[in-house]
Amino acid sequence: MLILGIESSCDDSAAAVLDGGTLRSSVVSSQDAVHGPYGGVVPELASRHHVRNMLPVIDAALSRAAVDLDAVDGIAVTCGPGLIGSLLVGLSVAKGIAQARRLPLVGVNHLEGHLLAANLDRPPDDPIPFPFLGLIVSGGHTGLYLARGAGDYRCLGRTRDDAVGEAFDKVAKLLGLGYPGGPAIQRLAERGNPGAVRLPRARLKRGRFDFSFSGFKTAVWQRVHDEPPAPDALPDLAASVQEALVDMLVGTTVEALEETGVARLVVSGGVSANRRLRARMADAGSELGVDVVFPRFELCTDNAAMIALGGARRLEAGEDDGLAIGAEADLPLGAAG
Ligand code: KG4
Ligand code: ZN
Repeated sequence: MLILGIESSCDDSAAAVLDGGTLRSSVVSSQDAVHGPYGGVVPELASRHHVRNMLPVIDAALSRAAVDLDAVDGIAVTCGPGLIGSLLVGLSVAKGIAQARRLPLVGVNHLEGHLLAANLDRPPDDPIPFPFLGLIVSGGHTGLYLARGAGDYRCLGRTRDDAVGEAFDKVAKLLGLGYPGGPAIQRLAERGNPGAVRLPRARLKRGRFDFSFSGFKTAVWQRVHDEPPAPDALPDLAASVQEALVDMLVGTTVEALEETGVARLVVSGGVSANRRLRARMADAGSELGVDVVFPRFELCTDNAAMIALGGARRLEAGEDDGLAIGAEADLPLGAAG
């Protein structure tokens, strides 16, 4: 089955073509240059740029796959969670194509896409076996999910406030490092001492696998306000910030691995590009005998290949959500608990 995937939940307009489980093309148009001056995504600007970018991105995905719309058998589109205005652009385009071409259309949860993205690095007949634990860490989401089977997910915990990528971005903005902040902090941190500045690590008592980053952000703000760092002190501060955020992610994930006893962990989302997080998570995994998988970089950040894959099982089973499907900004993935 040839599936066209469409993704527009945040600030990336993306389309991909998946052919019998094999990725034929994946095109992402980033809006970093649009939102950079603001230090974060401006929702209204994001939806306007999706309107401008979406059709050319779909055309590019089809032409890179060397197919035209006639060859498409079904459409998978992100229907949540995300920015409502952004989601609606991708969803409307998907509905338009589905109606004009009389194609089945399925709505895919963006988080399911992130959980399954690593399978695009593997042969279609050899997906990561269930059960596995998924840690999703991006600019919009931070959560731990137990994937028990295809379409069977449980949310073990998620952030009570900011996403971890947002914490990277806000600290970077505070230090004048530009947007997106994660890569800028990582670059500086490579020259710094992670133990140089003492920063708090939030541990929540209730909901043991939940995260919280807003107190951390305030602590960094307070520190910078009390003692503005000289330029040559920035690498130490960046390394300490990165270490604290990584500690919080690794600590909670290790507890969830111990409690669930699963043998595999998938780490996905933009922050999973972080080299320190990768190294620390890989070390923790080898200590626990857990296989730790990171999708390749282009599949960690938002893309439509993971959405096409997320919709493939249902499209192949003949399902069709039809034109009545709506976008849901807070669409949950799996039951909590
Ligand atoms: O998944 P993504 O591309 O978009 C969504 O938010 O859905 O993630 C973007 C986030 C940003 O917050 C960015 O600062 C962070 O991922 N990021 C990183 C790194 N690369 C991207 N954070 C830490 N270290 C990195 N190397
Ligand atoms: Zn995402």
